[in-house]
Amino acid sequence: MDAFPAPPVTLVIFGATGDLTRRLLVPSIINLTRSDLLRDDFHILGVGIEPGDDEFLVAKLDEFISATENLKPLSTDQAWLRLKTRISYVGGDFTKDDVFTEIGNRLAIVGSGNAAFYLAVPPQFFCPVVEKLGKHGLLKETDGTFRRLAIEKPFGTDLVSARALNKQILDVVSEGQIYRLDHFLGKETVQNIMTARFANMMIEALWNNNYIDHVQITAAETVDVGTRGKFYGATGALRDMVPNHLFQLLAMVAMEPPNSFDAEAIRNEKSKLLQALRIYTPQEAELHHARGAYTSGTLNGVPIVAFPETRDVDPDTQTETFVALKLYADTWRWAGVPFYLRTGKAMTARDTEIVVTFRQVPFAQFRETDVKRHLPPNRLVIRVQPDEGLSMEMSIKSPGLSVDTVPVSLDFNYADQFDIGKMTGYESLLYEMFVGDQTLFQRADGIEAGWAAVQPFLDLWAKGGKPASYAPGSMGPESADDLMERDGRHWYDLGVLRRHRRQ
Ligand code: BG6
Repeated sequence: MDAFPAPPVTLVIFGATGDLTRRLLVPSIINLTRSDLLRDDFHILGVGIEPGDDEFLVAKLDEFISATENLKPLSTDQAWLRLKTRISYVGGDFTKDDVFTEIGNRLAIVGSGNAAFYLAVPPQFFCPVVEKLGKHGLLKETDGTFRRLAIEKPFGTDLVSARALNKQILDVVSEGQIYRLDHFLGKETVQNIMTARFANMMIEALWNNNYIDHVQITAAETVDVGTRGKFYGATGALRDMVPNHLFQLLAMVAMEPPNSFDAEAIRNEKSKLLQALRIYTPQEAELHHARGAYTSGTLNGVPIVAFPETRDVDPDTQTETFVALKLYADTWRWAGVPFYLRTGKAMTARDTEIVVTFRQVPFAQFRETDVKRHLPPNRLVIRVQPDEGLSMEMSIKSPGLSVDTVPVSLDFNYADQFDIGKMTGYESLLYEMFVGDQTLFQRADGIEAGWAAVQPFLDLWAKGGKPASYAPGSMGPESADDLMERDGRHWYDLGVLRRHRRQ
């Protein structure tokens, strides 16, 4: 189905002069305008701490877009030139009432009455801003208009804080108006997981513990913590990536087929899956994880400073930059199938992928073939980034008179068939919010279920102990390999498919 233009709306961005706005939100808006999905009845009302008028914000955005290599082509695009005339700005302290009075005045003059409030601000401002929006009646939907609220991660720092945050927000605004963002859900290949599963019988028919041995979900990054020491030192790899991004991938892979493609039906299934994640005892949590922090070294020829020596990080830090978990979803479909998750900074390759490993055939019964020999298992590899695509690994007969099997990979690469390069990933999230479809957004119960499943690890680590070390450019600490090897398995090599293709 072709997408249709969004209804008239004013996007009110708190944090309008910040990095997220200029790097992702505004370029996505320009892309949506170019595709005619946003029309001339779309407006931006920026709110920021710096004083200034409408021209101030336009000039700031213009300057950034023109000076940023990958955004430069947008600076002269007709869509941007048109959009610029529909940007306004309110400067001031957004913990104070006068800013909200002014937002109300502006909304009454500009646009249709529909508004989406986007909190592109640090988490300590979430509640104060929502509270003021409520107090000034800005979230009230009157005369058929809509008022929506978009909230970025991090959504809480543990189960207790996530519950408290949900409660405070839900006291002011209803769940149907809230769009909790996880930018992984804006990625094309993440959305494709559902299509791959539910549009292809050959996949879905095998999608259970009769045929699947285990699932690996990896989000490896080559970047180090760099200038984010303050945030990352207090956060770590688990909080930063697992209950949000990795669990969204897990839910897409493992949820039951929804009754319809309605947002609530899909979110029900995702929440049910996350609620089925086994909550470990302290002993189980100890056994089922590995964590690490990178040491100093070099990565792709660039020197890397050891994590504890990073600026704004406590030298005695116990925070991890790598984590691997073994989890179970206690459902009929997945009984006994482990899900291994790992994520880390300063690793050997940037790779986000899901590897589904199938069980082995009962035995290899081929002429002149040792029946005891184990064939490599089938694997379905879903590459989320980079090099988005899908691969199926299987065994075939090698050409010739002897009967010998060799592993091959049937490979589909998105870029070979589609032009997907120029999007930021936020286009679909913003568009869906404007049209009022919550499918790609997290619901309160899903968020809380995610935190509940990782809470035993947080509790365990809070008792002390340091993460193991790993060298920059490696696949993480040895303990991560041990986690797999104890089960007679191993991690899928990072970047392996890319290397194949280059040869
Ligand atoms: C963010 C994390 O949410 O996701 C970052 O805070 C991480 O630490 C980033 O680098 C990864 O996103 P992407 O889209 O670059 O894979």
